[in-house]
Order: sequence, then structure tokens, then C-alpha cells
Amino acid sequence: MCGITGYVGVKDATPVLINALKKLEYRGYDSAGIAVFDGQEILVRKSKGALKFLEQKLAKEIIRGSIGIGHTRWATHGEPSDINSHPHTDVSGSIAVVHNGIIENYVSLREKLEKKGFAFKSQTDTEVAAHLIHFYYEGNLLEAVSKALKDISGSYALAVLCDKQPDVIVAARKDSPLVIGTAKNEQFLASDVTALLEYTRDVYYVDDNEIVEIKKDSVKFYDNDLEPITKQTSHIDWDIDSAEKCGYEHFMLKEIHEQPAALRQTLSPRITKEKKIDISEIASDEILRSTERIVITACGTAYHAGIVGKYVIEHFARIPVDIDIASEFRYREPIFNPKNLFIIISQSGETADTLAAMRMAKKCGARIIAITNVAGSTLAREADAFMHTNGGPEIAVASTKAFTTQLMCLYLIALKLAELKGTISEENLSKAIKELETISAKAEIVLQDKKTIQKFASRTFNKKKAFFIGRLADYAISMESALKLKEINYTHSEAFAAGELKHGPIALIDTDTLVVAICTQRALFEKMDSNIKEVKARGASVLCITYENEHFFDDSADAVVHIPETFDEFTPLLSIIPSQLYAYYCSVQRSLDPDKPRNLAKSVTVE
Ligand code: F6R
Repeated sequence: MCGITGYVGVKDATPVLINALKKLEYRGYDSAGIAVFDGQEILVRKSKGALKFLEQKLAKEIIRGSIGIGHTRWATHGEPSDINSHPHTDVSGSIAVVHNGIIENYVSLREKLEKKGFAFKSQTDTEVAAHLIHFYYEGNLLEAVSKALKDISGSYALAVLCDKQPDVIVAARKDSPLVIGTAKNEQFLASDVTALLEYTRDVYYVDDNEIVEIKKDSVKFYDNDLEPITKQTSHIDWDIDSAEKCGYEHFMLKEIHEQPAALRQTLSPRITKEKKIDISEIASDEILRSTERIVITACGTAYHAGIVGKYVIEHFARIPVDIDIASEFRYREPIFNPKNLFIIISQSGETADTLAAMRMAKKCGARIIAITNVAGSTLAREADAFMHTNGGPEIAVASTKAFTTQLMCLYLIALKLAELKGTISEENLSKAIKELETISAKAEIVLQDKKTIQKFASRTFNKKKAFFIGRLADYAISMESALKLKEINYTHSEAFAAGELKHGPIALIDTDTLVVAICTQRALFEKMDSNIKEVKARGASVLCITYENEHFFDDSADAVVHIPETFDEFTPLLSIIPSQLYAYYCSVQRSLDPDKPRNLAKSVTVE
């Protein structure tokens, strides 16, 4: 999704803006641009394609000034092109705007403005904002932006520069993330904190319907009607290294390897000295004990974590769990009562569909628990309670450590509910907690032996089709595995509940098919072995993921990858790792960039 940034201070703005845009690259983009006031006028440079093209342009057409705004665009309205790239300006070039989001009524606004004589250059929705602000400008940029926003419906994180007030950036937010970084004599703005970390750790999270006036030495917040708002800064305490590659070739590989530490960070603060689970941050024991039904909603990878959540909560706590994709849920007519818990999962905490689902559930009176990796995110702030996955920043587009840490949160919720509902004995609960405490070390073991996967990837990376099969939790992991391969290797990959194969999908199997069989549910080994034999007999190459010292599948699969012994219920925490590595190595074999897959954005802030 688009990334926006801005700077006002004492430094040369261009390198600061480019630096911040580089940090936002992971969000996905197809063009980039900046606007800087050079002391006389606002100069705009923009370019289709990678940031390096913008940098090349800037090397030839240098602009210097200490105030500016920047943007990486992920095309929605109008093709990726120099003209459609942001910043957009009004006709006189005196107002420049960068925008993340969608102006839904831009067609009618454009018609009205055209009738008034405004000439449009681009096909974008954003350009209407530049003309509208010009239309309302009467010597006060803050007022002009506020008036323009009243005409706009849709979502936005917006930053505006005006040559008549060259000491100020006005920014605003509705349904698109925006943070302001503050330091002595300089202020920064960006779509997310990773872009600011190099300069400051003190940030303001802008809330919906807030407008901000940013000067070198002040940051002032207002509501829609320009009534002042008092806000506190938050201090970011995670290390900048967490947002750098630290010697790994790609962020994705780094983040896969960070899983043991991330899992530890998720688990340890929630296990007391007495070896009990403490998740009081999400609800009192009383609320949890009286929970009669749970609804889980999320998108993509987070949705797959939710499916595992359903299995384990139903297994351990015997509470019925419904799970839905957020983009579906928001348009259904779900049924809630106050004894229902609504668990919403999102790495970024900014996914548009997920936020819409949460707001809808809130209206229906459900208690909302957000599981997210971003403490200051909209989801974390709007939910009734928030469980931090504590995974550290995830930069690669394809989610890895966010998934396993989300799983860990769901295991903790499942076991706590089981304890409170009395559906698990004390002995089994303490065994389960003890086992969870070994998972991080076991994840290290999975990561130590990557050779089999690397070798198998080098032989099979260009297979036309890949099917992931499994039963129960292995089926959920099959879905997540198929998504990983789809995203970063562009292979047509699908997950099938292994028992469904013969109800249709087996017709697709031929010699150009890879089948990955995830086999960690001991009671179902024989069934899975039959499925492997069925697909082998039809020419598929088969990789099996199962327990160490397990030889059940040696004769049926072409290659076997092992994970350490653990409880069958906990295997998703480990069995996903070989699939993440497999997708990564396939992508590298094809010379693709696994961190930035085509057409995808890290944070999907529009519908
Ligand atoms: C897949 C992936 C996406 C996200 C989905 C939801 O690797 O990253 O499927 O999981 O867009 O994003 P969040 O979790 O930020 O709500």
C-alpha cells in the first residue's frame, strides 16, 4: 500500500524523505515522488518504478530545502506512471499533496472542480484534494485542509505543503495509518514508525478525523472542526536493528530465523513464576470463564492462525468457535450476545477489512480482543483489549514470525480458557505449559537443518502446481503454506483437506504437480500415508513434513523433513517453518525478490 512521509526541520529534506521512503518500500509500491520547498517554490520530482529511478532523477535535478513530503504509490486509480505518481499539485503548483487511501467521491468532486475551471493532469483520486485545498485556501492552510476534508469521503492519510506557508506541513488521517515523529527542532511524519526510527523514538499516533499542524518546533492536533486536541507521545522501545537485515540476504529469511526469539518473547511474559498462564491483559477470569462462544476474524495469514485457534480452543476449552474472513464477515449479518468474545487478529493492526469487521462486532456489543504486532495500531487502540504478539517489526511482505506468534497467543488463550472452564486437569495443563516453553528451542532445531528443503526447492521450484495437504491443524498449516508459495514464488498452489482429495482435486494431479503432505497428527498417519500413495501413483513429487525419528512416510514420499517431537496440538508452531523456508528458497531459485512480491502490499489499508 502507499507510504507517505514528511519532514520539517533543519536538515536537507531530500535525503531524509528518500531514506524514509526506503523504509516504507516493503509496503509495496509502483512509483515514488517527493515535493520540497526550496526557499522560492515547491519543486516536485517523481518517477514510475523503483525508488532508484527517483534517486537517479534527483541526482540530476537536485532540490534542497528543509521542508518536504514524499510518497510511494501503490496504484489504485490510474496506471503506475510519472503523471499519476504523488505528490500532486494544484494548477499553480503552490499546494502539494501526498495521500494514502481512497477518495471515494472523487468522480463527483472532480466534475464539480472541472466545472469551476480546474484542469486535471492525472487520473488519480488524490489530485482532487490538491485542487480542493487550493479552492478553500484563504491564507490559512490548516483551515483550507479542514474545509476540503469535509467534502471528501473515503479514507486518507494526507500530508500537504503550501508555498505561501513554507514552514508548515498539514497532515490528516481517516482510516489510514499516520504517525508523527518528534525531535528537537525537527518533526517527521510517516505511514509507520519504521520510517522514523532512525531519527526519533518519540511519536504521536494520529487518530481518525484528526488534523495536525506540523512546524519545525511544534506539533498541534485538532479535530475536524479545528478544536485543539491534547495528545501524548509514545516512546518506541524496540531496537532499530529489528528493522534492518542484519546480514541476512532478505528480511523474510531474517524473520523466519527470528521465530525462536519471537516465540519466547510472546510466551515468557505471560507465564508466571508459579508456571501459570497470565493473560489478564485481555479480560478478567470472570469474563473468560463466562464465555459461551468465540468468533475469530482476520485476513490472509492471520486468518490461517485463526483456524488453528478454532481447533485448539475447541479442543482444550470445549467452547464453540466460529471463524470468518474479515472481508466476508463485514458484509454478513453475524449474531452476537454479550457472552461472546470476538478475537480479531492482524499483524499490522491496520488492515481495512479487519478494522471494519471489528467496528461492526463492537456495535453488536461483543467484547473485542485484538491480537496484533503493532502496539499503537488502530486495532490495538480501538479494541476493548489488546494482546501484543511481541514479534518485533515484520518487514517482508510475506508474514512469517507474525503467524507463529499469533499462534502462540491463541494457544495461551485456549489453555487459559480450559483452565477456567475446568476442561483440562491441572496435571495436563502444567504439562502443556511446560511443552510450550520448549517450543522456541525446538523451532531453533527446525532452522538448523535447511539442506533437505533447499535441495528439494532447487528440484521443484518451477513445478506448475503445488498442493499442500493435511488433516486438522495440518490442514490449517497447508493453507498457510500454500499462501506463502503463491505469494513469493507465484506458483499456483492450493491447500486441500487430505480427505477431500478424492472428492475432486485428485483429478488435477499429474507429473507437474508438487504435493507437500503435512503429517503431524499421529492418529491420522495411516490416512495421510494412503493420500500420499494416491498422489504418488498419479505422478506427483511428494515432500512430507513429519516428526523426527518417524519413518512412517519414508517409503511413500520423495523427501521427508522432520520437526522435533511435541504435542500434536502444538505442531503448527513448528511445521510451518519448513514451508516458509521452502517458499523462500523457491523464490530465490527463481531470482525473485521474496521481500517484495509483485502486486502485494504489506499493509492492506484499503478495501
Ligand atoms: C501473507 C500476508 C497477508 C496478511 C493479510 C492480513 O503473508 O502477509 O495475507 O496476513 O494481509 O494482514 P494483517 O495481519 O496485517 O491484518
